Amino acid sequence: MIDFTGKVVLVTGAGAGIGRGIADAFAKSGARVVAAEIDRARADALRAALGAAAFVSVTDVRDAVQVGTLLDDVRQRFGRLDVLVNNVGDFLGIVKPLEDYADGEFDALYAVNLRQIFVVTRAALPLMKKTGPGGSIINISTIEAFRGIPLNIVYSAFKAGVSGFTRSLALNLGPAGIRVNEIAPETTESAQVKPSEWIPPKYLEHLPRWIPLGRFGQPADAAGCALFLASDLAGWVTGTTLHLDGGSLAAGGWYRTPDGRWTNTPVVIDSGIGGF
Ligand SMILES: NC(=O)c1ccc[n+]([C@@H]2O[C@H](COP(=O)([O-])OP(=O)(O)OC[C@H]3O[C@@H](n4cnc5c(N)ncnc54)[C@H](O)[C@@H]3O)[C@@H](O)[C@H]2O)c1
Repeated sequence: MIDFTGKVVLVTGAGAGIGRGIADAFAKSGARVVAAEIDRARADALRAALGAAAFVSVTDVRDAVQVGTLLDDVRQRFGRLDVLVNNVGDFLGIVKPLEDYADGEFDALYAVNLRQIFVVTRAALPLMKKTGPGGSIINISTIEAFRGIPLNIVYSAFKAGVSGFTRSLALNLGPAGIRVNEIAPETTESAQVKPSEWIPPKYLEHLPRWIPLGRFGQPADAAGCALFLASDLAGWVTGTTLHLDGGSLAAGGWYRTPDGRWTNTPVVIDSGIGGF
């Protein structure tokens, strides 16, 4: 339905999970996909899957030198860049009270969740501006930037920073005809987040009570949103957030009871993910 033939699309962290889903979908829609992926084995698998039309680079997006080299390569190979998907992000498995964080953990969460988005976008902008109006930047945030998450405090704070970046950059790039938006996913099956493994099967029957649309996300859900935001269908959409969450944010603290009624005072003991 949406045709990206002739367009060049850079997806960071495209080797797994949401990024992989987005890269696959753009490739299927005719785009030349450029992937920046730190993990060599994942990069190799992606290269094999996407074939010669794609350019898969083993790149650490936290490293400005590597990112600069990648954008030089994109300029030389393709001469244009239409879409940038800033997908890399990671809670780094850090789940604990704020007072237990080490300085290095603050820095590591900043580097992978926010700073690298500045670095990659800065490097991409000259080529995107040269490509001309119609460009699109899509940042992957999280639903946890729009509601609290206990014990993932620093991750959610940097992800909320992605929202501020999205809105402000959208203003700056409006005159250039480049739109900037973000996608904020709820729990989505990926290499990093594995509800199918983390939630004991006996609890899965409760899923329709937790999430109004009754399931967790799949990378293809994010891909659909990314294709829309990058396309002309979203030609008047900028500086905003697409909450990709099956209705979770709308539900707020409301859940369904086992007999199908609504409650904002759930009494289920034990927890789904992780037992926080
Ligand atoms: N999966 C979820 O439930 C979920 C929910 C909300 C938001 N998100 C966000 O979605 C994005 C993707 O998450 P995911 O769960 O698909 O992650 P993932 O870990 O499954 O995949 C991320 C990919 O990025 C690569 N990567 C990591 N650091 C990199 C770096 N420095 N340079 C280049 N590549 C790097 C990884 O090797 C991996 O292939 C992240 O920004 C994450 O915060 C995920």
